Amino acid sequence: MSIRGVILAGGKGTRMGELTKVTNKHLLPVGAWPMVYHPLKKLTGAGMQDVLLVSGTEHMGDFVELLGSGKDHACRLTYRVQDEAGGIAQALGLAEHFCMGSRSCVLLGDNIFRDPLISFIEKANTRPDWAWIGLKQVPDPGRYGVAELNGEQVVSIEEKPANPKSDYAVVGIYVYPPDVFGLIRTLKPSNRGELEITDVNNHYLKQGRMGYSILDGYWTDAGTLDSLDFSNELVRKDPPRF
Ligand code: G1P
Repeated sequence: MSIRGVILAGGKGTRMGELTKVTNKHLLPVGAWPMVYHPLKKLTGAGMQDVLLVSGTEHMGDFVELLGSGKDHACRLTYRVQDEAGGIAQALGLAEHFCMGSRSCVLLGDNIFRDPLISFIEKANTRPDWAWIGLKQVPDPGRYGVAELNGEQVVSIEEKPANPKSDYAVVGIYVYPPDVFGLIRTLKPSNRGELEITDVNNHYLKQGRMGYSILDGYWTDAGTLDSLDFSNELVRKDPPRF
């Protein structure tokens, strides 16, 4: 079964202060590139030739100006507008027609990590009807989705828990089978009014269709001023591999 790449690059960037007053967070620099180059290069580096980028109306024109058809990145780019920021799962729902029965490899546009994606995808390929998530041990798990593990199994995933059951953050790297889109249609908004990717993951977990890979190299999000700074430091010291 083929697999198509999806980059989620929406959101209001409210945690970035003045930096996102006139632009989108994913266009800010990480190393020598705009942030969005990182997920794009991860996907194309893992062999994906068809990539969808989802963002809001405000800055879609800038993404198109920057990335065009994708020919400079050896891929075919498709763009979809998310009218209002309604959560990661809602943004992913917009990829249904683009995926047309294929599996999807979904990257959050503000996740910066060292290792190439290929080994993650190869592991996910061993169970094509499962959802596959990436995990990384972090000092501040309460900022993220947190996975509780029992050997090879994920036992629970909680979104930004006050009392995290482990220090394994669920990173913004996911592989889903085609039935993810039917599942998204059944979701209800969370307390913060969003369709949560953690709810999607918990459905697969309950069905016993969830696998995980632990990332070896560094990983960070770059969605706050501090983490943007940190991601630049990481990338400068040890450039990511694609
Ligand atoms: C989102 C997800 C969270 C995940 C994180 C990774 O959080 O909801 O589960 O751990 O991305 O970057 P957000 O950055 O939208 O708060």
